[in-house]
Amino acid sequence: MKKKLSLLLIVVMVLSLTACASSTKGNEANETSVSQNVEAQAEALETEGEETLPESDDQGEEVEEAIEENYSIKDLFAEHGVKAGTCLTTQMTNGIKSQEIILNNFNSATMENAMKPENILNKEKSVEANDIVVEFKGEVKNMLRWAKENGIAMRGHTIVWYSQTPSWIFYDGFEKSNGLVSRDVMLGRMESYIKQVFEQLDELGYLDLFYAYDVVNEAWMEDGTMRDNTWKKVIGDDYIWYAFYYANKYAPEYIDLYYNDYNEQYKTTTLLKFVDTLVDDEGNYLIDGIGLQAHLYTGDAQDAYFRCVDALAEKGLKLQVTELDVSLGAWQKTLKATDENLATQGRYYYNLINGLLKRVDEGSLKMDSITFWGYSDGMSWRREASPLLFTGMNEPKPAYYGAVQVMEKAGFNK
Ligand code: GLA
Repeated sequence: MKKKLSLLLIVVMVLSLTACASSTKGNEANETSVSQNVEAQAEALETEGEETLPESDDQGEEVEEAIEENYSIKDLFAEHGVKAGTCLTTQMTNGIKSQEIILNNFNSATMENAMKPENILNKEKSVEANDIVVEFKGEVKNMLRWAKENGIAMRGHTIVWYSQTPSWIFYDGFEKSNGLVSRDVMLGRMESYIKQVFEQLDELGYLDLFYAYDVVNEAWMEDGTMRDNTWKKVIGDDYIWYAFYYANKYAPEYIDLYYNDYNEQYKTTTLLKFVDTLVDDEGNYLIDGIGLQAHLYTGDAQDAYFRCVDALAEKGLKLQVTELDVSLGAWQKTLKATDENLATQGRYYYNLINGLLKRVDEGSLKMDSITFWGYSDGMSWRREASPLLFTGMNEPKPAYYGAVQVMEKAGFNK
């Protein structure tokens, strides 16, 4: 595989020059696009969670072909010591075809919504206990059981975040009318929350499935300022430091602790400065790695993306790609799924994965997993822009062949 990668490199470089030339400038406005859409999209996905997958035997033909031809993202990535991940919903773990695709291609998963704060914090029990109370619901347990049975490792996502977090956790007696609690009370609640996450996963017998956890999600803005949110308002700017401090106290050594963010290519300088503040009294890092969400567009310049990866990698911390999807077009200018645009996307995935694996092989990048934010356009939060590897009918796209590095099917002949 390494040999194949280097042989193809020259062709790829020529072709990627063409791709980059047509790229749009990096848009800081991605910030708004992601943050405004996150909750609405998540809600939409949850509502649709009840629907069954579009499945049909004929449409599965190409999947069968891909499987017969032994294409497998996880097998390819394993040659480089990298896990291949997908986000996970119960819709996926219940479907026959979706399980087949996942088990063939992925050995890591991140719950798309089920482990987010709004889904694991219980108000009634918190009021009763006069402490924040974590309670994992049935869907979390079901997905963890499924992951265990199928040898899938887990990324935890996410603990401290501004979005999909219930506002009642910040109020005295957990009631808005009582006003916000003090910094000290909120620090106590944060510690208790983080402690319970790890304790309860342990009690459920699933803690050892986890190899990474997003402790803090999306705390920085593109202009280098901290995002305003209620954690910051109540505790102060050091709320992130405390989140990592407590996570270090309660998470086992084998779980790497991550800061996760989007628009990473526009936040690189900020992230470089920020991670250096996450140290203990002796100067040791409280953080193990930076999660690059990689919600990209085919119009995003790939050389700029790799400049970000290289700069962050130089810190010596681990990096993971945590939510990869590549929408067709550019922010607010998405394109239709024409053959040509799908071919461009195939090449984009090919070059991106190729560049990451090459850096891992050379030793300049410590990256032990690359997670796609799902596999099917039909179940994606950005589905209008067809950002994933399979169509809604489970047919592999050029993007899939890009991910498995099959150049002749990844859109290079268009
Ligand atoms: C962000 C979050 C994810 C998810 C996506 C949208 O990237 O980190 O958990 O909500 O937005 O699906």
